[in-house]
Amino acid sequence: MSSKSRQIVVTSALPYANGPIHIGHMLEYVQTDIWARFQRLRGHECIYVCADDAHGTPIMLRAQAEGVTPEALIERMHKEHLQDFTDFGVAFDNYYSTHSDENRFFAEYIYTQLKQAGHIRTRVISQAYDPIAEMFLPDRFIKGECPNCGAGDQYGDNCENCGATYDPTELKNPVSVVSGETPIEKDSEQYFFKLEDFEDMLKAWFAAGHVQTEIANKMNEWLDEGLKDWDISRNAPYWGFEIPDAPGKYFYVWLDAPIGYMASFKNWCETTGHDFDEYWNAESKHELYHFIGKDIARFHTMFWPAMLHGAGFRKPSAVYCHGFLTVDGQKMSKSRGTFIMARTYLEHLNPEYLRYYFAAKLGPGIDDIDLNLEDFTTRVNSDLVGKLVNIASRCAGFINKSFDGKLAAKLSSEDLSQKILAAAEPVADYYENREFGKAMRDIMALADKVNQYIDEKQPWVAIKDPARASEVQDVCSIGLNCFRQLIILLKPVLPKLAAQSEEFLKVENLVWANLGDNLLDHGINRFKPLMTRIEPVFIERMIEATKEDLATEQKMQQTSSDPSIEAIAAEIDYDDFAKLDFRIAKIVAAKRVEKSDKLLQLTLDIGSETRNVFAGISNAYQPEDLEGKLTVMVANLAPRKMRFGISEGMVLAAGSGETELYILSPDSGAKPGMRVS
Ligand code: MSP
Ligand code: ZN
Repeated sequence: MSSKSRQIVVTSALPYANGPIHIGHMLEYVQTDIWARFQRLRGHECIYVCADDAHGTPIMLRAQAEGVTPEALIERMHKEHLQDFTDFGVAFDNYYSTHSDENRFFAEYIYTQLKQAGHIRTRVISQAYDPIAEMFLPDRFIKGECPNCGAGDQYGDNCENCGATYDPTELKNPVSVVSGETPIEKDSEQYFFKLEDFEDMLKAWFAAGHVQTEIANKMNEWLDEGLKDWDISRNAPYWGFEIPDAPGKYFYVWLDAPIGYMASFKNWCETTGHDFDEYWNAESKHELYHFIGKDIARFHTMFWPAMLHGAGFRKPSAVYCHGFLTVDGQKMSKSRGTFIMARTYLEHLNPEYLRYYFAAKLGPGIDDIDLNLEDFTTRVNSDLVGKLVNIASRCAGFINKSFDGKLAAKLSSEDLSQKILAAAEPVADYYENREFGKAMRDIMALADKVNQYIDEKQPWVAIKDPARASEVQDVCSIGLNCFRQLIILLKPVLPKLAAQSEEFLKVENLVWANLGDNLLDHGINRFKPLMTRIEPVFIERMIEATKEDLATEQKMQQTSSDPSIEAIAAEIDYDDFAKLDFRIAKIVAAKRVEKSDKLLQLTLDIGSETRNVFAGISNAYQPEDLEGKLTVMVANLAPRKMRFGISEGMVLAAGSGETELYILSPDSGAKPGMRVS
């Protein structure tokens, strides 16, 4: 086989940075990783890049709820996600973040290219707005009664009870998930990507077979209905990249998310000295594949190719969709304990069990994949432990004990190894075409053959007759050579088992091209059990732990369910406290700040001097009601430059939010300038 005959880039979807990785996600990363490892094993260059999807409203709100900055939240998530993936054996060449300089650069660049080519237009639209939180609300942050069946507590985009989809404006008795207030409609100007400009391109692209037929059919239906403009902007406050020359407008998270593939790849190029343009220019012959779940097909097969095309980049060679993971035939469920986090799984079971099981069930289509926990146990125990590892354990003992750990110098027959070699090409085709289930089926049939061979030869009988010693060495050497071949075939799925087997066989870094070799007159190491059986109790414990995760989560949500009561902040020393200089201040003047809907400008008399302070209390107080009042201020806070002037301190007020705010005032008798301690 020619080496480096292909240059391939693969990606998995970028997981959101607002929550942990669960085993549903793992289906995708395992699928991609198996495919990437297979390509590398065949001698191709295959660069697997991914990243955290670090922008958007849910991340902004979660950071707020945790009382941390979004930067801190996404950094923590990035670490956790990468650790989960690494422990599952997912071997990225780069795992980056969409909140990166490279991504900002490409997002701005692509947007600017699209704009210059006339593919962007603006329009004023009316959207749901939370007047308390002062933010526009994504569909998922509005709940109410389903307009179709009347079920309560439904999201703004679709009903989980009857399956109807609708606009959030159609919900009955809608409330904002953020503040609990009734949303109002508010107009604002937004930026749109004119997808219709790409109708012909997309039609031709689908026809050329870059996406699976089921997906192409679905997309063509949308094409036939006529392509609508895609709203790519969001109003402040938003956590993302500000749109160039559009202050207060941000790129919608789904604009910069797929660009994150490029950014991660660019970052990889920078650290490895590769040429980015060679892979991404419009004429590039290198291959680019995106593995994704079927829920995000439209973003990847319509918007993304159109963006790339419009900005002068290459389009994906193919987008591969997979179905959703169910557990025991049902959607993963928190209460049943089947919404299993990657970390929880890892605490109870070997990740390669799941890699194998996913492989055994994966095909090229978009059908859902069921993890049946009983079938999982049986299958792993019978295939991996009972068939595969069994070959090695049956043969190794004799070689270690009776032949000084040496394999025979020549083999009496190569029939079996030739059979495996002949089966390897179809197996390779299966891997290439994402027919992993068929590949596993064939490999296990080969393992059956090897076990049958050993059964027939009965080395445990022959070993009793010293005259038949060389026969035993021959049979076991054949067995172990076949085992070695099977390990090569399974290496994309079971990288850890393969590494342990290489160590046991005293061989280094087996690749596909080694399938035709034999180990002759070759010393091996002592056999250590390569994999143990799954005991049903391991599964039970994992389910229990998952239920416990849920209980903790619910408890945490209860304590934080009253938004006016915040958790107590971290403990401080007396010295920390003593640094704060609180003073009684008299509000001698208060006025509104033009162009700000939150701030009042206060002039404060603190005895020795007067201070100018901007306070975010204009929704709670009329300026005239404040004049003459006494309050408490932090007098030694470093002055802060704001858009409207310099703020020289802070006034103390209770409450969070903006209308529910109460400034503190002293009992009568206190005088301006008195120290508060
Ligand atoms: N952030 C977006 C993707 C942006 S890609 C430019 C996103 N993130 S996600 O965390 O919700 O999902 C990441 C991937 O995991 C998606 O491809 C999604 O389909 C997949 N899965 C999430 N849950 C899944 C299952 N239960 N089963 C199989 N795949 C699942 O979408
Ligand atoms: Zn409904």
